[in-house]
Amino acid sequence: MDMLELIDRSKLPKHVAIIMDGNGRWAKERGQDRVYGHHEGVVSVREIVNTSAEIGIQYLTLYAFSAENWNRPKAEVDALMELLVNTIRKEIEELKKNNVRLHIIGDFASLPEICQKELNEAMQMTASNTGLNLILALSYSSRQEIVFAAKKIAEKVALGELKPEEINYEVFENSLYTAGFPDPELMIRTSGEYRISNYLLYQLAYAELYFTNVHWPDFRKNNLYEALLNYQQRERRFGKTSEQIQTTPHQHV
Ligand code: FPP
Repeated sequence: MDMLELIDRSKLPKHVAIIMDGNGRWAKERGQDRVYGHHEGVVSVREIVNTSAEIGIQYLTLYAFSAENWNRPKAEVDALMELLVNTIRKEIEELKKNNVRLHIIGDFASLPEICQKELNEAMQMTASNTGLNLILALSYSSRQEIVFAAKKIAEKVALGELKPEEINYEVFENSLYTAGFPDPELMIRTSGEYRISNYLLYQLAYAELYFTNVHWPDFRKNNLYEALLNYQQRERRFGKTSEQIQTTPHQHV
């Protein structure tokens, strides 16, 4: 039986977040340069985006470049930025056709100008799409995001626009890069590392974590189905007992 048929479409996570890891190792295992792994990684990105859109996932966040990744050798950083620009340029028609809306989270201003321009155009061109929301985390650091949110809120308080006692989850969440997006229910990390690596630390509070040894360039349709099936077999309790879960759905505390 096709794995897709086993997936319960009514119990899909609304939001899947992925740490795409292992491009470098995948390339090395083949005696190739790391950049070759990133190129193959783009093939996986395309397949996972299309599959997510097809199956009805509403939000897909991909960790494409962390704030820490700036410390990699310049040649690799340049190659990744170039790959990003070229991929967006090449894929824009496909994104439009598939009703995908592009968003960026991270320190946008730190990206090279050409990247900013290409990404801004792509975001504008897909702004009215109503299918999958594809969120690329670029120059992203979750700690930085949290500190920025605290700063934004502090400024509002200093200006008298907000009282300290009015600060709640909603106010805080609206100050994060991810304002307006639901929290991911499922976080997938490829390539056998069991870390969160400064990714969506606030937003992953209740996420199910799924780790696989498969390197990102090998992570394709069936690997996503497998992760979704695994997710659907888990019971999400949010601190409650099993019995309570049978009767009351989760409410934000
Ligand atoms: C992790 O593998 C991957 C990255 C740092 C970059 C991910 C980028 C892409 C898949 C291509 C560009 C993306 C888009 C959205 C067009 P790694 O290099 O850390 O692998 P390693 O741990 O084996 O060294």
